[in-house]
Amino acid sequence: MQSLTQSPTDPAFVQDPYPFYERARALGALFFWEDYGFACSPDHALVNRLLRDRRLGREVPPEKVVPPPDHLRRFYALERHSLLEIEPPDHTRLRSLVMRAFTSRAIAALAPVIDEMAHALIDAFPRGEPFDLLTAFCEPIPVRTICRLLGVPEEMAPRLLAWSHAMVAMYQAGRTRAREEAAEAAARDFAAFVRDLVAERRRRPTDDLIGRLVIAESAGRQLTTDELVTTVILLLNAGHEATVHAFGNGIRALIEHGFWSASTFAGEGASERAVEEILRFDPPLHLFTRHVYEPIEIEGHRFMRGDVIGLLLAAAGRDPAVWEAPARFDPARTVTPHLAFGAGIHFCIGAPLARLELARALPILQRCCPRLVLAERPRYAMRYHFRGLERLMVCCG
Ligand code: HEM
Repeated sequence: MQSLTQSPTDPAFVQDPYPFYERARALGALFFWEDYGFACSPDHALVNRLLRDRRLGREVPPEKVVPPPDHLRRFYALERHSLLEIEPPDHTRLRSLVMRAFTSRAIAALAPVIDEMAHALIDAFPRGEPFDLLTAFCEPIPVRTICRLLGVPEEMAPRLLAWSHAMVAMYQAGRTRAREEAAEAAARDFAAFVRDLVAERRRRPTDDLIGRLVIAESAGRQLTTDELVTTVILLLNAGHEATVHAFGNGIRALIEHGFWSASTFAGEGASERAVEEILRFDPPLHLFTRHVYEPIEIEGHRFMRGDVIGLLLAAAGRDPAVWEAPARFDPARTVTPHLAFGAGIHFCIGAPLARLELARALPILQRCCPRLVLAERPRYAMRYHFRGLERLMVCCG
């Protein structure tokens, strides 16, 4: 297997990782990424296959688990029960409980709520002066929608954002002690807040997602309180972090590539097609890893239990074997399934919700602000694998 060196904190790479993915693709379906110290795949077919292969998984094999340092005790206590850190049978049990709340009916019922939110936010835009669309539109919609679904007061949104940002910063390359301490403090405060919410729901049952999980927790020993707290935090964090940047990256692409027009969203299925193209072309999450559970041969290379393999979802979305001219952004493209939401048993639970938010809010924004222009060249925030703009300064005209 051939090796490549590329620092994930190199500013030029963070602004545009796609040329690196093409260099990697030229080496075949697998390459060794020196800086991470594991094999990676940019190949759509292989990434898709490995995401579904049960000989690999997200849970760290027990013999590889390192006890967390004391200053990160609370953070890892939460992580331990996260759907994203476990495999069956616990994963199946927890995921099926959450899935009950993500029925297509429950998600579809949020459409008018999202429409109303989008209009209210647009009405509050400053007219005639540049402003940051990320904080004025892209961020509030996913945060408030997930609060609504879970049954968390929307006034909590700013604190949820702060806790969430501090916690997800742990997944970025180049961790510092200060970042770790901020994540630990956020985990402590966030967990205390959710525990209070849970106690409140026990006293006064509600029909929101937290209410229903509390019933499952107290009635049938279906999940423990720790699992409940972690699941609520995961949903609140995952429920907005990626969608905010799908909005930002998408609006940027639509404007820069000349598709900010009514025709982009006109006609049956046009908005949904545009959303899929946004997620294929410049998704917010680029790299996920899997642990190998048993000896396995992949593309002629032998992997042993405990090895790690990186799956480059964003590179897979640019695979010329699947898409014609993949570097071209074309919102009218015929939809071919991309991997921006993953695949297999960890496939994104929130995919229908994220799709609905984008497909409802983007056309409303375009209709209300048809002359939206960029007020400056947007820059991506300095973090790799959570790919999103640091701000999106626009003028509404
Ligand atoms: C555009 C927005 C989003 C993107 C691109 C995205 C992407 C992903 C991806 C790639 C995974 C799988 C990770 C893996 O296989 O290792 C995932 C899992 C997950 N996502 Fe999302 N997500 C988005 C929005 C959401 C929303 C809105 C929610 C919550 C309502 C959510 C909740 C979750 C959860 C709970 C998991 C873990 C599922 C499991 O492990 O079984 N996501 N997401």
